Amino acid sequence: LNTRMNHNESKKESPELGKDISFEASLQEKDHAHAVHCMVWAKWEDHFVIEEFVPHAAILMQVRFDGCIGFPGGMVDEDITGIPIHQAKEKVISAVTRELAEEMNVDFTRHVITKEDYMFTHRHPSKKLFLHFFTFEMSLDSLREIENMALKSMDFGNEVMGILRVPLYTMNDGYRGFPAFLNQNFIQCSRQQLLLSLDAKKILTKNEIDEAVSSSRLNRT
Ligand code: GTP
Ligand code: MN
Ligand code: MN
Ligand code: MN
Ligand code: MN
Ligand code: MN
Repeated sequence: LNTRMNHNESKKESPELGKDISFEASLQEKDHAHAVHCMVWAKWEDHFVIEEFVPHAAILMQVRFDGCIGFPGGMVDEDITGIPIHQAKEKVISAVTRELAEEMNVDFTRHVITKEDYMFTHRHPSKKLFLHFFTFEMSLDSLREIENMALKSMDFGNEVMGILRVPLYTMNDGYRGFPAFLNQNFIQCSRQQLLLSLDAKKILTKNEIDEAVSSSRLNRT
């Protein structure tokens, strides 16, 4: 029990970064599975009715069947170990395309994920599994359509228990909003994928991200 508590504690206190690896290097390791997830998002600069809370962006995540928050996506069913990098990337893209259709009913006659949408790869801390990540930007109108269609997806109600937008603002008490959201139970490294993508896509500044992360710790209730 002690070990487990210490492990959880250190996970909480460590910098948000896990071990990342290049896409190319991940293909060289034998007997590893590959999974791929994607942050679907849109710029959203309108102010709320309560004007001080700037939404920044609409980012879609989901409540999974296991109760955790995560991104849509899933396993790369084909074996991509040892194959050329561009072929592997295509297979990963087709896996994430399929999973986004299954889990969120995204219409891929209208939205095409490309190599430019690839972000990074992480190694699972205990399983022989690599976790690839993409971000996919679209217009707010398109994202709203996806939200409206998502409840009719194949996997809604079994793999997927809900879709949600990430609250990216911090409310006047310095805790509600994004800091509170960061205390959800996130699957695997999805919290880190979210934080890294917010920075990479310049949705929040590094300073805003650091503040939200530290507020989430100080005010944990
Ligand atoms: P099935 O179709 O039921 O097989 O599930 P799936 O293919 O949709 O797989 P799932 O999305 O559950 O993801 C596969 C692996 O990735 C599991 O080990 C999860 O723990 C992990 N995982 C799930 N969601 C995320 C996520 O958002 N980020 C990260 N890093 N890992 C995730
Ligand atoms: Mn799935
Ligand atoms: Mn999934
Ligand atoms: Mn799957
Ligand atoms: Mn499935
Ligand atoms: Mn800002």
